[in-house]
Amino acid sequence: MLRTIFLALFTVLVSAEDGSRAWLRYAPVPQASSHRLPPSIIALNSSSNSPVYVAGQELQKGIKGVFGKELSISSTNKGSPAIVVGTIDAYKKTYGSFKEARELEEDGFFLSTTGNTVRIIGQNERGALYGAFEYLSRVSQGKFSSVSYVSNPHAPIRWVNEWDNLDGTIERGYGGASIFFKNGYVVENVTHAAEYARLLASIRINGIIINNVNANPTLLNDRNIAGLARLADAMRPFGVQLGISLNFASPQTFGGLSTFDPLDANVDAWWANITNKIYQSVPDMAGYLIKANSEGQPGPLTYNRTLADGANMFAKAVKPHGGVIMFRAFVYDNKILYANWKNDRANAQVDFFKDLDGKFDDNVVVQIKYGPIDFQVREPPSPLFSTLRKTSTAIELQVSQEYLGQQCHLVYLGPLWKEILEYDLRADGKPSKVKDIYSGERFKRPLGGSAAVVNVGTNTTWLGSHLAMSNLYAYGIMAWDPAVEPDDVLQDWIRLTFGFDRKVMEVITDISMKSWPAYEKHTGNLGVQTLTDILYTHYGPNPASQDNNGWGQWTRADTFSIGMDRTVKNGTGNAGQYAPEIASMFENVDTTPDDLLLWFHHVPYTQKLKSGKTVIQHFYDAHYEGAATVQTFWKAWESLKGKIDTERFEHVLFRLIYQSGHALVWRDAINQFYYNLSSIPDEAKRVGNHPYRIEAEKMTLSGYKPVAVTPFHTASGYTAVVTTSNTMAGSVSTNITFASGVYDLAVNYYDLYEGKAQYAMSINNRTVGTWTGDLEDKLGHEISRFLDGHTATRITFRGIKVNKGDVLRIVGTPNGIELAPLDYVSFMPPGKVD
Ligand code: GCU
Repeated sequence: MLRTIFLALFTVLVSAEDGSRAWLRYAPVPQASSHRLPPSIIALNSSSNSPVYVAGQELQKGIKGVFGKELSISSTNKGSPAIVVGTIDAYKKTYGSFKEARELEEDGFFLSTTGNTVRIIGQNERGALYGAFEYLSRVSQGKFSSVSYVSNPHAPIRWVNEWDNLDGTIERGYGGASIFFKNGYVVENVTHAAEYARLLASIRINGIIINNVNANPTLLNDRNIAGLARLADAMRPFGVQLGISLNFASPQTFGGLSTFDPLDANVDAWWANITNKIYQSVPDMAGYLIKANSEGQPGPLTYNRTLADGANMFAKAVKPHGGVIMFRAFVYDNKILYANWKNDRANAQVDFFKDLDGKFDDNVVVQIKYGPIDFQVREPPSPLFSTLRKTSTAIELQVSQEYLGQQCHLVYLGPLWKEILEYDLRADGKPSKVKDIYSGERFKRPLGGSAAVVNVGTNTTWLGSHLAMSNLYAYGIMAWDPAVEPDDVLQDWIRLTFGFDRKVMEVITDISMKSWPAYEKHTGNLGVQTLTDILYTHYGPNPASQDNNGWGQWTRADTFSIGMDRTVKNGTGNAGQYAPEIASMFENVDTTPDDLLLWFHHVPYTQKLKSGKTVIQHFYDAHYEGAATVQTFWKAWESLKGKIDTERFEHVLFRLIYQSGHALVWRDAINQFYYNLSSIPDEAKRVGNHPYRIEAEKMTLSGYKPVAVTPFHTASGYTAVVTTSNTMAGSVSTNITFASGVYDLAVNYYDLYEGKAQYAMSINNRTVGTWTGDLEDKLGHEISRFLDGHTATRITFRGIKVNKGDVLRIVGTPNGIELAPLDYVSFMPPGKVD
C-alpha cells in the first residue's frame, strides 16, 4: 500500500510541469493509437556512450511517452520491421546499400518513415541522433504522414556559449546558478550537464563553451581539468563537444611567466603544453573561445602584437588536436572621447580587423556579434561580415535576454534573428546574405557558423522563464536551417511544449510574434538602441546613461536633435564600412529605413519620418503603442486557464502581469525624458498628463518621506516616498476625489532585492490588497538595489468599489534596505490603463 502511494506520488512529481523537460516532454498524442509503429528499435551501436546508443534509448523513451508502447531495443537486425538508427557505415554493413549516402554532409541525416520501417541514418553518430530527435519531434507533434528526406546543416559550427563563472554565478544569466561550476571548481555531479547536452542535441547544437568569456585562468588548474573531462564525458554521448574560454594573460597570472606576449617562445610553449594536457583529458575538445583586448580583458595589443598574432598562437596549440579557435570580434575601446563627433564604437570591429583579413590560421573563426554594438533591440548587421573575405566567421547571437528584458519580459527573438540572417550585405554588388557569409558559402571559407550566448542555470525552467525557451529552441533550429520561418519554428515549439489545443497555439503564437516589435517600441525605436541603463544592469529605462561616457553606446540626444551621425560626409563614417549599395542607402537620410534612422543620422526631433510623423511624436506614439500591446499579453494568457497545467500557467501569468507593469514604467520614463529634453509636447497630450493618478508624495505622509529618484523620470512626478525608519511601518493616505464607482487600483512601487517590504492597502479601513516586495524570489532575478527604472513595478487590484471622499491608505513595513517605497496609485476605470 505504502509503496503504491509512493509510486503514485512519484509519478505525479516526475510529471509535474516544472519546465525541466522543456520541449522533450513526449506527452501522449491523441491520434497516436491509430498509427502503425514498427514493433522494435534497432540501434546500430551497442556501446552505451555512443550517440547512436543514446538515440536508441531516446526513441524508446519518446515512443513510450507519445504512443504508450514499450519497444524493445537491440543492436542487430532480426529481419522484422523496425525503427533503425545508425550511421551510414553501420547501416550499410547490416543492410547493404543506402543510396542517399552521397547526399549526406557532416552531421546530416536521412529520415524515412515510408513502408513498415523507420530508417534514421546519420552521416555520423551525431547525425543519427539528430535524426532520432527529428523523428520524435514529428510524432510528438502528431505529424504521422510518410516522409523520406535528407537534412543537412547550414554550417558546421553550431555552438552555445555559457557565461558561467567558476564561483557558480553566471554573467547575464537569469536562470539561477551555474550547472557547471561551484566554489571555484567544476561541479562533481554532472547529471545536469548531461541533461542540458541532451536538450542541445535535440536542436542540433554540436559545441558548448562552458565558461564566461571574461575568463578565470584557474579553470586551468589540475582539479578543474579533471572536471572538464567529467563534463566532456557527460556530454559526449549527445554529440556535444566541450570547449572553454581562456584568459589571454594566463601564462603570466596563472603560469608564473613574466609575460603573455604571444610572440614569446616561452608563452607559446606554455600554451602548447597546457593545451596538450587538456586534450589528454578531453581528446575531442572543440576548441577555445577568446575575448581579447575587450572591456579590460588582456590581449595581444598589450605587446603591440596584432589580434591575428594572438589568435594564431592558440590556433597552433590546438591544431594538432583538430581544435578550433573562436576569436571574438567584440574588440573596442571603452574609453572613447564623447566630445569627438567622429568617434564611434560601431567602427571598432572593422577598424581592428580589416587589415588582418587573410592573416588568421585556417582553424581560426572570427566570432562577430550580429550588430556593431552589443545585442541591441535593433541594429544593422555588423559590417565586418562583408569585410572579411579570407577569414572564416561565425555570428554571435544572444538567447539570454541581456538587453531585451532579462527573461522577465516575453521577447521572442526568432524574428529579430531572421532579419539579420537574411540581410543582404551586397558585397561586390552580389547577393551576400549574412547567413551565407558565416556559413562559409559566400566567400568559400572552410569553417563558420553560429554561437549563441545562452546562460542556462539550475532553475527548473533552464532560462528562468518557460516562454523564454522558445528562444533557445529557435536558435538551434535556425542555426541548422536559417531558411525556416520564425513563426513555424515557434509553433513546433508550442506543440512540443504545451500540446495541441488550438487556442493555446493561437495565443502563444500571437503574443510571441508581437513581443519583439512591442519591446522595440517601448524601449527604443527608430534605431536609437535599447534605451536601458548601460552603466548598471541592462534592464530598465535610463536613456541618459547612454551618453557622455566612454562606452560609445551613444544617442547624442540634446535639446534639439537626436541620433548618431554615422555618415561619411559629416559623421563617423560608419555607413562607409558597408559595401557600396548598402553604404549609399545608409548615407542618405531619405533612403535609410525609419527603423535605423537614428542609428545612422542625427536629426531634429521635428524631422519628418516616411509615415509623415515627426521623430518625437513617433517616439511618444510608439511607446504608447508598444506598452499597450504588452497589456494584452497577460489577458490573452489568462484565457488559457484550464488548458495549461496550473504550474506553468501561474508562472507565466505572473511574469506577463509583471511585464505589463514594467512596460508602462518604460513608456513613461522614456517619454518623460524626451519631453523634458525637447520641450515638445505630445500631440495627444498623454505624456506627463496622468489624470487617474495620485502621487504618493502628494498624500498625507506618516512615517514616510519624499525622496528624489535617479534617474528622475523613473518616478511619476520625479519623486517617490520611503519610510523614515528602516524598522517601523509608515503610511500614506488621502481622500479619494474620483467619482464613486468601481476601479482597478494600480500601485506603482519599487522592489529592491535586499529586502522584502510589506504593504497593505485599505479603503476606509477595509483592506483591499496586501503584497510583499519579493520580486527577487518570484522573478528569480535580483535586479537592482536602488529606486530606479529596474525596480519600478506595479501591482493591480481589480474591481474595487470606492466612494468619493473615502480614505485610501497604504501601510508600508520596511525590510532590509527596502523602505517600502511607493510612487503613485492609479484609479483606472475598468478596461482603461492610465
Ligand atoms: C556585454 C555584456 C558583458 C559581456 C560582453 C561580452 O558588454 O554586458 O557582460 O562580457 O558583452 O560580450 O564580452
